[in-house]
Amino acid sequence: MCGIVGYTGHKNAYPIIIGGLERLEYRGYDSAGIALLNGDLNVYKKKGKVDDLKKSLTHAKLDGNTGIGHTRWATHGEPNDINAHPHYSNNKDLVIVHNGIIENYNAIKQDLINKGYQFESQTDTEVLVSFIEDIQKNTQASLEESVRFALQKVIGAYAIVVMSKNSPQTLIAARKGSPLVIGVGKDEGEYFIASDATPIIEYTNEVIYLDDLEIAVIRDGNLTIKNLDSTIKTPYIHTLEMSLEAIEKGGYPYFMLKEIFEQPKSVTNSLRGRVNADEGTLTLGGLSEYMNRLLTADRIIILGCGTSWHAGLVAEYLFEEYARIPVEVEYASEFRYRNPIIKENDVIIAISQSGETADTLAAIELAKSKGAKIFGVCNVVGASIPRMTDAGVYIHAGPEIGVASTKAFTGQLSVLTMMALMIAHKKGIIAESEFREILTELELIPQKIQKALEVSDKIEKIASKFKDATNFLYLGRGNNFPVALEGALKLKEISYIHAEGYPAAEMKHGPIALIDKEMPVVFIAPQDGIYEKIVSNIQEVKARAGKVIAIVTEGEKNIKEMADYTIEIPATHQMLTPLLSVIPLQLLSYYIAIMRGCDVDKPRNLAKSVTVE
Ligand code: AGP
Ligand code: GLU
Repeated sequence: MCGIVGYTGHKNAYPIIIGGLERLEYRGYDSAGIALLNGDLNVYKKKGKVDDLKKSLTHAKLDGNTGIGHTRWATHGEPNDINAHPHYSNNKDLVIVHNGIIENYNAIKQDLINKGYQFESQTDTEVLVSFIEDIQKNTQASLEESVRFALQKVIGAYAIVVMSKNSPQTLIAARKGSPLVIGVGKDEGEYFIASDATPIIEYTNEVIYLDDLEIAVIRDGNLTIKNLDSTIKTPYIHTLEMSLEAIEKGGYPYFMLKEIFEQPKSVTNSLRGRVNADEGTLTLGGLSEYMNRLLTADRIIILGCGTSWHAGLVAEYLFEEYARIPVEVEYASEFRYRNPIIKENDVIIAISQSGETADTLAAIELAKSKGAKIFGVCNVVGASIPRMTDAGVYIHAGPEIGVASTKAFTGQLSVLTMMALMIAHKKGIIAESEFREILTELELIPQKIQKALEVSDKIEKIASKFKDATNFLYLGRGNNFPVALEGALKLKEISYIHAEGYPAAEMKHGPIALIDKEMPVVFIAPQDGIYEKIVSNIQEVKARAGKVIAIVTEGEKNIKEMADYTIEIPATHQMLTPLLSVIPLQLLSYYIAIMRGCDVDKPRNLAKSVTVE
């Protein structure tokens, strides 16, 4: 939900931190700030984007080789200069940046106010740093011990970095429920801290993923990692495969457009080394140790949020069609607060691009507490969810920076398709001919996505006709109903136009009342088993003067006669059509948002990874 950056070493900290914040801004961006330690402890922070902060620093004292920075997604206190991070402690000796929510901050705040502490901001974060100050003052403990003691008392989620005026060359980092990565610099004694690896990769590819309830102390170029109970932990250094080029825009105006057009490559990467249609083989190494659990599962419960939840809905069709295992798809944000019945032979699949979504993490914890086996389908290597699950499959889509998820969705569908087919094949319940036919089609999907992207100019023209619409309806049937939901979400979250996805068959049970000449209706109408039914739905809308945009299989003629606009996608196997039908919907939402002057990569009120409740 927010972006944290820290640096200590021999370089000037400012450019590293401000550049890191720019790379993390997709995580949350209602305000930004930095703190630099150069004898003094200087804090500069401002409402708005990192660029606004940079512009405000023309006369600031920016030297110092230790510092921290933060881009905020507000939870406690409106986005403004005062609530921006970093926050000083009461005596201004300490500063903190924080990702998460301190749930018992009010009680701690009242206690500190009774002791005479004063607060400038409305945030829970400012309470935490003054709590640390109070502990240090009363116990004369070290900064590290004071942080540890405070964290043992707080309830909630945190990723924090603390700096003290009295402890030069020192950063103290800790996490519980929000991510933190430590980069091991190439220069002796140089360390980076960040919410994810994107600010670090240009300096080093050696990283340490901090685990929950661990504290990292970097002092005078030495790193120590301990658990909250003070036991020392030997850090494991991962070597990142991420490239700098992967986190740059590469000439595109927005990350979202780059990531839409990356999908032929990203889906290829999801399939690489896993599908071999010629040999009729499917290999998902990450599942091999638990394959039997999957083959004998009585039920699959799929957990996810947003786009990941939509991918789960598509997977329901795949698993029930091929693996013949009953599936329930749950909003992780609802599941976590229920008392679900999870039986011994149930299997949980948690889908998450970031691997850090708080609701999905909490739902996994609940399922684990009930003895379920958990499989992850994630994109970020080393994220919290992959490290919490028993096994899983990475989608290998590469870093997805745009807040609106695009290539992660098609990567998730690719992996979930492979999982369903592999189970069916190992259970011997899919004909070899059909298995090979689908594998062959799956291997052709990247080039078919490429073809679907080639009509982007036509989609841009259609977008110009509807950029001023106030409502949209997206309709689909079968495994394209979740794609209708996904198309509606894309439009909502980046253009701020209200849109609703609905099963096309359900329209006559209510939503058809919404149809008039002002209401654009997007139909996902590939040539599949229920094509005739959706043709009837299109006729029902046209009979009420609705404007129809139809996603059709190339060469289709019937709907072309009826719809106001048609967008063609290549033909493919019915169970793979969502991988193609989503492409024009991504482009349609992108172009409409651009024409409405929206910030496509950083839509208002949103953040890339929802790491708070
Ligand atoms: C999708 O475009 C949104 N950014 C959002 O719904 C997202 O899918 C959701 O927050 C889940 O994120 P995750 O896949 O990283 O868990
Ligand atoms: N709860 C803190 C605040 O509202 C941190 C929010 C975040 O994770 O960005 O400032």
